Amino acid sequence: MPEWKFPVFGHGGDYNPDQWRHVPGTLEEDVRLMKLSHCNIMSVGIFSWAALEPEEGVYDFDWLQNVLDTLYANGISVLLATPSGARPAWMSQKYPEVLRVRPDGGRNLHGARHNHCFTSPVYRGFVKKMNAALAERFGHHPAVVGWHISNEYGGECHCELCQQAFRDFLKNRYGTLEKLNQAWWTGFWAKTITSWDQLHSPTPIGEMEVHGLSLDWMRFVTHQTVDFMNAEVAPLREITPDLPVTTNMMFSFDGLDYYRFIDSIDFASYDAYPGWGEEDDDLWVAENAAFNYDMMRSLKNRPWVLMESTPSQVNWKPICKPKRPGVHLLSSMQAVAHGADSVQYFQWRKSRGSSEKLHGAVVDHVGNEHTRVFREVTEVGQWLEKLQPALGGMPPKQVALIYDLENRWAQDNAQGPRDDKQYMKALMGHYGALKRAGLSVDVIDETMPFDGYGLIVAPQMYLVKPGVADRLKTFVKAGGTVVSTYFSGIVDENDLCALGGWPGDMMDLFGVWAEEIDPLFPGKTNAVIVGADQPVSAGRYTCDFMCDVIHARGAQVVGTYESDYYAGMPAITCNAYGDGEAWYLASRMDSEFLAQLYARIAEKAGLKPAVKHLPYGVHADVREKDGARFLFLQNYAAEPKAVCVSEGCDAITGEAVGGEITLPVHGIRIICCRK
Ligand code: GLA
Ligand code: ZN
Repeated sequence: MPEWKFPVFGHGGDYNPDQWRHVPGTLEEDVRLMKLSHCNIMSVGIFSWAALEPEEGVYDFDWLQNVLDTLYANGISVLLATPSGARPAWMSQKYPEVLRVRPDGGRNLHGARHNHCFTSPVYRGFVKKMNAALAERFGHHPAVVGWHISNEYGGECHCELCQQAFRDFLKNRYGTLEKLNQAWWTGFWAKTITSWDQLHSPTPIGEMEVHGLSLDWMRFVTHQTVDFMNAEVAPLREITPDLPVTTNMMFSFDGLDYYRFIDSIDFASYDAYPGWGEEDDDLWVAENAAFNYDMMRSLKNRPWVLMESTPSQVNWKPICKPKRPGVHLLSSMQAVAHGADSVQYFQWRKSRGSSEKLHGAVVDHVGNEHTRVFREVTEVGQWLEKLQPALGGMPPKQVALIYDLENRWAQDNAQGPRDDKQYMKALMGHYGALKRAGLSVDVIDETMPFDGYGLIVAPQMYLVKPGVADRLKTFVKAGGTVVSTYFSGIVDENDLCALGGWPGDMMDLFGVWAEEIDPLFPGKTNAVIVGADQPVSAGRYTCDFMCDVIHARGAQVVGTYESDYYAGMPAITCNAYGDGEAWYLASRMDSEFLAQLYARIAEKAGLKPAVKHLPYGVHADVREKDGARFLFLQNYAAEPKAVCVSEGCDAITGEAVGGEITLPVHGIRIICCRK
């Protein structure tokens, strides 16, 4: 498969010249401004179907030819989009089957975008023809460096074609109805299925209670979307085998399991709109962004592309704050710190009408370069040029945090022991603690390889896929450390509860049996008492949310509950297993405890922090390349912070640095040294 081989850091954005075709001179002015802002790449044609095929079978590609030629002549490259994210009206009018059907069975009208059926042979046929025509005409154009497939795939369709495809998917998964009935536990409430035709997607006006069905439907939605994408990509691979493809994924989106896209994309790309300035300080926002960026890098274990970010503000929040001065540089460099090799925006030129006319853009309605936003965008371009030696660099392999979509969906479906499972909050608690400990974190799912890491953290691993418990055991036996928590090992891949005790097949790995789960009311806490001579410092640590009532079955008891009917029983355990250790945190621990825990594990496992003793609010990320180490220091706190660094040189100014340096609010320093 081809790779993303852009020779420099990319800098650019979504460019929609088709919106401005009736305004002479816009393209030329755009090119002038692109060069001025140090932009070198544009995503073109994302929503251009109506301009590319104004009538069925009548293609108008000359305007796009002119755009590509002009950009190329000016040294600007192009990610060429397939336009399947929105269809022209003539198509919906003549072939209503392309339109999406809702869970209540009603078909949508034409409108909005992303409003199509992923199964419809008619839609797939149009997409295939369009993509082949684009590839034939432009696939070998020198400006084009990759394919931007569709736009933010998402959503689901409940039409009869999709129901049939769902049934085929289930036939393929289970083979017989007997197996399906067992997997879905249909003896409950007379749910037994006696014919494949009885199967229907989950819907509020029908079935919502069969967990196996709901989980399989979510799997199917991902499967069908990937299948649609593969069909889109097939003609491109045939005509342009050397051009890498990507599809832009959505920030924090849980409707698709992006890990299942790995084999269909050549590089990962991401649209990210963190809520800078919405909290008292930006640390939580930064950590949430960092988590998502680490996931993007982990998909292909390679650098990725920030396909969209806003240069200033969005337009879809209740209150849309512009980025404060300096935040754009900080947020763009944060993506680079986490492995982005390109920083791109939605959008290049602000559209004049319709729903995004007030969304941030590089070029505002004023139409010139004399804006704060344009200047800050230009600064990012200048920094990226100076960072060239870091292009392609990757962080050291240290920690894997397991984030699994099927696990997330299954938790969300479960009724009890509390409505809100707060899986993401659990993940972010651990992720934040790992980052504050200065460690590099990959975000992988349960199916990805575990080797090469020193530590695997798997909070709330409620659903455990086949083989995962054994793979974790192999990892720990060989000297790895694993940390898991309450609410783990509860169900298998069919959402059937483990028999024989929790955490199921991982009981011997953790050396515990979890007998009961006590969810705590909001605001209520318990505490964990750690005595002297334990691997973490003695003390009293707060815990909340859920308390597993556990028994040690071979594990060392590190801490015990302070109160309630399980006072004195184990709350934190560590089990020596082979050459490694398996930690079980029976309740949601406070950040002080997690800081202690990860400092201790990092030291024991020989995981070197990027910087020791990071002050509150400062992140340190590393990209390594050809023996050079680039340390990205970022301050998300609301006041200046001092950090102690070893000697190196500032990658932007070239000056020597070492010892204590002060990062102002929103400050960023990139320090380069030999490894
Ligand atoms: C998404 C879409 C873009 C645009 C932005 C606005 O990321 O892909 O087309 O609508 O949101 O923030
Ligand atoms: Zn459909």
